[in-house]
Amino acid sequence: MIEKKKQVKQIFDNIAGRYDFLNHFLSFGIDFYWRKKALKLTKLNADSILLDIACGTGDVAIQAKKMGVQKIYGADFSHNMLKLFNKKSKWIDGHLTQLVAENIPFKDDSFTNITVAFGVRNFYDIQEGFNSFYRILKSNGKATIIEFRMPSNKIINNVYKFYFKNILPVLGGIISGDKAAYTYLPDSVQEFDEKIDLAKLLRNSGFKEIKKYNFTFQTVQVLIAIK
Ligand SMILES: C[S@@+](CC[C@H](N)C(=O)[O-])C[C@H]1O[C@@H](n2cnc3c(N)ncnc32)[C@H](O)[C@@H]1O
Repeated sequence: MIEKKKQVKQIFDNIAGRYDFLNHFLSFGIDFYWRKKALKLTKLNADSILLDIACGTGDVAIQAKKMGVQKIYGADFSHNMLKLFNKKSKWIDGHLTQLVAENIPFKDDSFTNITVAFGVRNFYDIQEGFNSFYRILKSNGKATIIEFRMPSNKIINNVYKFYFKNILPVLGGIISGDKAAYTYLPDSVQEFDEKIDLAKLLRNSGFKEIKKYNFTFQTVQVLIAIK
């Protein structure tokens, strides 16, 4: 666990400067649509108090702000990702915290919403992360998890695997200068999909109602869990 924490933090600290470009380039820009759609399903509004965990360079928070959310906080354990978030969106100044998702230092019942986009897969202890989410959410608060998954359709699964194994690591490696980081991404998606049942972990933490959605040929899953 400690090893994974160190490894993932180092990956994101290393690739931070190229993260946004690569993210949008390698996903053909669909990642904006995934975040927007997931936030719409979450039904955020002007009264929401949102903590975006594993916020990275801030694309979820930026989308939430466009949708009228006023109180937005971001948290991530990578200092370099947070620095870029701050540079991109000055309005977030003072609302960013460097922390690990597994041990969140906020008070109980503080937020109406938590979001995590493409971050849970990287947690070194997902159950501990979800326990923290549950604790800091208000009653009826929602945790929205956006994560990659392996599509069940055989043909799409093969195309996806080919892209993830042969194209993404090469392009990601060349552009970011860190091939290991972009080899980690596909490996972690497949391993994650085989081993982790997110809904079960959310239920273990106490979430009572869990809604599940799939986007873009089931390559992305969204879970909205209600406390
Ligand atoms: C793939 S990026 C996603 C960033 C952003 N949410 C987005 O949609 O672009 C994953 C982020 O999770 C952060 N992260 C990974 N494990 C974490 C943990 N255990 N605690 C806090 N942040 C973590 C990384 O530093 C990185 O910024």
